[in-house]
Formats: sequence, structure tokens, C-alpha cells
Amino acid sequence: MNQRPTKVVFPVAGLGARFLPATKAVAKELLPVADRPLIQWAVEEAAEAGFEHFIFVTSPHKSAVAAHFDPAPHLQENLSARDNQAALELLKAGLPDGAKIDEVEQAEPLGLGHAIWCARELVGNEPFAVILVDDLVHHETGCLQQMLQAYRGTGGNMVAVETVPPEDTQKYGIIASGRQNGAVIDVTGLVEKPSPETAPSQLAIIGRYILQPEIFATLSAFKKGAGNEIQITDAIADLMGDVSVYGFAFQGTRFDCGMPDGLLAANVAYGLSKDREKTAELRRKLQLILENFG
Ligand code: UTP
Repeated sequence: MNQRPTKVVFPVAGLGARFLPATKAVAKELLPVADRPLIQWAVEEAAEAGFEHFIFVTSPHKSAVAAHFDPAPHLQENLSARDNQAALELLKAGLPDGAKIDEVEQAEPLGLGHAIWCARELVGNEPFAVILVDDLVHHETGCLQQMLQAYRGTGGNMVAVETVPPEDTQKYGIIASGRQNGAVIDVTGLVEKPSPETAPSQLAIIGRYILQPEIFATLSAFKKGAGNEIQITDAIADLMGDVSVYGFAFQGTRFDCGMPDGLLAANVAYGLSKDREKTAELRRKLQLILENFG
């Protein structure tokens, strides 16, 4: 039986340049979808999958992301005085009871691989998961929980994958795929941001990973890849002789919330995902919007 990961890393130290000016003073990870910020959706997905230890890799300029999970004594006091139990419950921000939270700084945004490397001491010598908060996946069973179920049988390094149009391969890490068994795909190679002409497939890695601790030694070479950044895809590829890699074709709808259109689409989808009665007003408004702006 493969060791079950209990720690999850949230790299939240990027620049958010594609979402400027919204992300000038507010971190991308704090932008809301429906009633909660992206970082909370990610934490809830990990909590649902049974993770207990939440590690945030933050930038010196974006400390408010982890602060979302700090106690808020002024709100607590005021809401308690008003006996507003419903609002008090919401202050927990999706954290399960007994959750352990840690924060580590990435001094400079040198790339996703470097951000993950920054968490090495907190993770230690055990498998762990990574969630990229701006990839939001909507499904009854969270993407990470789906992956964990498959990982029990495979072990190794696992990446969530989705088919993208050929012209989009240059935005993602792309896998070369071998045999497929249900949702699990044997990965025979990985390449970061290939052009459509050189891409080995249209299977793109999206923001969910289960990784073995050997990855930290590989990352510590600080090898720069696409965009002159230290890429996690390259480190996973470099380890392939020693650690098997699996793609996981998850179920659900992914929203790229690192871009304004993706965040807007996620807001509509999550807004509509409650029962029909509660969403009647939103549906009426959307109808009006389509009539007037469509
Ligand atoms: P992105 O590729 O979306 O980069 O990173 P970004 O910097 O956030 O956004 P743009 O490209 O400037 O618009 C995916 C995730 O990895 C984190 C980001 O915060 C995001 O959650 N990341 C990226 C880091 O923590 N550190 C880095 O050096 C790079």
C-alpha cells in the first residue's frame, strides 16, 4: 500500500501579471468565486480529500493570502455579541478541526518548481500534494480526492491532465502518454509549454499534483526552463528513471481563474450550482444580460 499523503502545498507567491490591474494590491488567490476566495475553495478541496496539514508558500508582498485563515477576533467578538452563529461558522474559512497551518516565504517568484522547493523542510521525507489555487475544478467529488483514490494503486508522481485545443499546448506542461487504464495514464515524457508542432499530445497538466519527496533534490539543481523559470514539469521529467509518472484524467469542469474570463465563467457556474430555487434571481439576471449584451 502506498503511503497516503497528509500534507498539501499551496504555492501562492506568483505575480498574477495576467490579471492586472485587479491583482495590483489584492492577491489573485483572494479573488472571489461566488461567496469565497479561490484559496478557500482550494483548502476545502484538500480538506474533503482528508489532508490535515496545509502549507502556504507566500510572497513577501502577498502575506494576506494565509491571513485569510487567521482568527479574526474583532469579527468574532462582534458576531458573538449579536449571536450570529451562521456568520461565526463562516469565519472558519473551510478549515477542518485540528488542521495544521504553516507558511513559508518564497523571496522571489523564480517559478513554480522553486515555490514547491521552498516547502521542502515543512514537507520532509514523505509524499505530498500540490494545488494551484487558480485552477478551480468543479465536481461532486473533488479533483484531489479522485486522484488520491487512483494514487493508492499507483504511487509515484501523479499529475492531473485535461485535453486542450492544439493551439493551447504552449500554455501548459504537456505529457507524452503511454498505456491508459481507466483514468490513469502512463506518462512516457513531459515537456513544458511546447508549440503545437512539437507537443507530444494535447494532454495538459493542470494544477493538481501528488509528488514524492525525491523531487526536492531534483529541484535543488535550480535548473531554469521555459520562461527562464524553475519548472516543476522539468523536475518531474528529470526524475522519470527513478520515479514513475502517471497522468490522471479527472472528472469535472476546470476553470482557469488566473485569467479574467475564467474567473467570470467560474462565478457563473458556481453561482448556478446551488438548487434551482435559490438561483432563480441569478438565472433571470443572466437571461437579461444575454438579451442586452449578447
Ligand atoms: P502562474 O503560472 O499562474 O503564475 O502560477 P502567476 O505568477 O500566479 O500568474 P501570472 O502568470 O503572472 O499571471 C501558478 C501558481 O503558482 C504560483 C502562483 O501564485 C500560482 O498560484 N507561483 C508561481 C508561485 O508561488 N511562485 C512562482 O514563482 C510562480
